[in-house]
Amino acid sequence: MARVAVVTGGTRGIGEAISIALKNAGYTVAANYAGNDERARAFTERTGISAYKWDVSDFDACVAGVKRIEAERGPVDVIVNNAGITRDGTMKKMTRTAWDDVMDTNLGGCFNMCKAAWDGMNERKFGRIVNIGSINGQAGQYGQVNYAAAKSGIHGFTKALAQEGARAGITVNAIAPGYIDTDMVAAVPPDVLAKIVARIPVGRLGHADEIARGVLFLVADEGGFVTGSTMSINGGQHMY
Ligand code: CAA
Repeated sequence: MARVAVVTGGTRGIGEAISIALKNAGYTVAANYAGNDERARAFTERTGISAYKWDVSDFDACVAGVKRIEAERGPVDVIVNNAGITRDGTMKKMTRTAWDDVMDTNLGGCFNMCKAAWDGMNERKFGRIVNIGSINGQAGQYGQVNYAAAKSGIHGFTKALAQEGARAGITVNAIAPGYIDTDMVAAVPPDVLAKIVARIPVGRLGHADEIARGVLFLVADEGGFVTGSTMSINGGQHMY
């Protein structure tokens, strides 16, 4: 039977490319999304991939979402924690709400989804978890203390949970994308973005399917020895 994969934020941007790549590789894919019904409907029509709506920052909603997918599609073998938001602003302007929203979605969502699927993966002695971090979680970024902290947290979370899953056949890895040509990056002011692109050694933004290729490598059944790693896919940008 095909393995079941859940991709959070799976109907747009990097998540959409991951959902499609997994489907093309033979996985049964459930794409989670939080808000944009219209885009989700169009995504399902175009790809044939089912979309499931819930907010990953809501723990109970994650538990219910995983339960529903397991009832409809089968046990969840793969989770790609991709859902993420930005609320950029310098420290002077950043509100507590902008901090909480980003932490709760980008990092809290990762915990919620892993927790919701963890017992089942342990019982079945198989699991593949891929958490989408960011170069900005590795290097920091002006105007992103919230996002950089959450993404940096994802990298620590990944290394810690990898140790807990290792003896149960569950691998936990992260991908740290650089700047990818998604709506999120398109929202960066053009002059700021031009300066960022000028610092990318390959001289361009990345494409979402370049991240999806990394996910396929990390979720492979044969990948049992690859755990606790962070794969940087960033066009050669220097990070610290
Ligand atoms: N380094 C040093 N100074 C900087 C700077 C930088 N990187 N960016 C801005 N500044 C300076 C500006 O020059 C300006 O200085 P002056 O007041 O002396 O002119 C001051 O900081 C304020 O800058 P802004 O006018 O831009 O201030 P703002 O409050 O309107 O906006 C900002 C600040 C929200 C941070 C805006 O600059 C911005 O959106 N920057 C892009 C942030 C970014 O890269 N986000 C990534 C989103 S994509 C993503 O996150 C995906 C991923 O994983 C890679």
